Amino acid sequence: MYTGEMLSSIAKVEASRKGRVGAALRRMTADEKRDILGRFHPDYREDRFEPLAIGPNRGEKVPLELAALLQAKSRVADSRIDLDAPAHEVDVLVVGGGGSGASAALEAHAAGAETMIVTKLRLGDANTMMAEGGIQAADKANDSPAIHYLDALGGGHYANVPKLLEKLVTNGPAAVQWLNRLGVMFDKDANGDMITTHGGGTSRMRMHAAKDYSGAEIMRVLRDEVYNRKIRVVDFTAAIELLLDESGRARGAVLMNMETDEILVARAKIVILATGGAGRIHYQNFPTSNHYGATADGLVLAYRAGARLLYADTLQYHPTGAAFPNQIFGALVTEKVRSLGALLVNRDGVAFMHPLETRDVTAAAIIRECRERRLGVETPEGFGVWLDTPMIEIVHGEGAIEKRIPAMLRMYSKYGIDIRLKPILIYPTLHYQNGGIRIGADGQSDVENLFVAGEAAGGIHGRNRLMGNSLLDVIVFGRNAGQQAGRRFKSVRPGRPGLEHVVRYEAERKKAGIDTEKLSPLLLPTYTHRRDGHNAAS
Ligand code: FUM
Repeated sequence: MYTGEMLSSIAKVEASRKGRVGAALRRMTADEKRDILGRFHPDYREDRFEPLAIGPNRGEKVPLELAALLQAKSRVADSRIDLDAPAHEVDVLVVGGGGSGASAALEAHAAGAETMIVTKLRLGDANTMMAEGGIQAADKANDSPAIHYLDALGGGHYANVPKLLEKLVTNGPAAVQWLNRLGVMFDKDANGDMITTHGGGTSRMRMHAAKDYSGAEIMRVLRDEVYNRKIRVVDFTAAIELLLDESGRARGAVLMNMETDEILVARAKIVILATGGAGRIHYQNFPTSNHYGATADGLVLAYRAGARLLYADTLQYHPTGAAFPNQIFGALVTEKVRSLGALLVNRDGVAFMHPLETRDVTAAAIIRECRERRLGVETPEGFGVWLDTPMIEIVHGEGAIEKRIPAMLRMYSKYGIDIRLKPILIYPTLHYQNGGIRIGADGQSDVENLFVAGEAAGGIHGRNRLMGNSLLDVIVFGRNAGQQAGRRFKSVRPGRPGLEHVVRYEAERKKAGIDTEKLSPLLLPTYTHRRDGHNAAS
């Protein structure tokens, strides 16, 4: 299965391994980081961005692929929809069935609101489920929310919205306790204390995990909780447009049954968008670690309704996506592998950087190693560098890999690779949208009664998120949105639902000369096999 080049490079990695264990690797200076980001990080490629021609962020640059979706034709542009015959009428409509949607629904329901989740796949089919490494919370004696704040601020290039970041870190310990009480099986020591590790850019060990399937474990519990509390869930149903009343307040959504294409109307006093990320747009043709449904739908709906986006030009490329074998191309290799001691090593067996620089810097350094220095290893899809996984058991003893990262062990063993014995080839994979819909500390967007939680929201993480702050964000801001909705729904005097904003947006689009039959939201990617062997989404 390995090529000859791979085998001879593995021999060099093995020969140099002992000398690497315990060796101190230098951190990059601020100037070195700036330089490497500017030259190698995909966010800095001017030719892959364009300014928006219409909408609240007109004139601001976003990735080409996102511009095409934000400025595409509405799926309801040519339809007549009977808004007077709603299929559903609820207090709080939650769009999206991942961690933030489930958390929001649990809190809104607990506050007495008639709550319904609509999700285009099934409850739990979301990026939360795919999260591996853990959730940050400053709950150890040597740590504090203030230290957590500073770590995330530095990692985010000082662009994090202060009030949002403050909310994230100060609510961290309570969020982990909430999950613990609900039944999430966190890793604990013999005394019952949570085991914590470092992530890239953390100055304290505050990563709480459930082995390396932390997100799946959290989602398991949240999903059970939604079902146990008998919250209404409508699966395989996408929101394709928001409804606003005559005062411009959110008033529900137009839904589409994903199996029959039937159009339905859901009226609500408050809408919470929890639609997740955008990896399946495959910005710049990168592979992705994201769930099949991660297609930026919430950004499209909110933007047409008049909500501003924040930092929509910044994406996260996780440094360690699987580069080989092809069957798992782009799949996440958790940062926890590096937290446990595996180093990044080039084709000559040289550890070329500290393994826990922040993600954007690490991804850029890997790209440089392959592109400029030509020290990557050729793979069927391009290049990769080694992540020297056998180092973990040298550092932590035999059995550590099976105990701490069993999902990684299993993923590779399916393809005949034992990561205890052999290093693995990795390359950056599209992992997270750092930006999203602008919200205030209450979780509300620029559109009244439209709340946003989870990856669809922008600003919390600035221009680069740290590992484990996303699982924290979905819990903190999901619960927050649900609580705010639960407090507010009784006083909302809803107006008449309408789609005039869509008519206005269509007129603006035509006036700007944007002539396209492309429809958005995308809902699901369509994969076509390209002649060069890559799979392209459209
Ligand atoms: O590497 C990881 O396990 C990913 C974690 C995250 O994005 O927070």
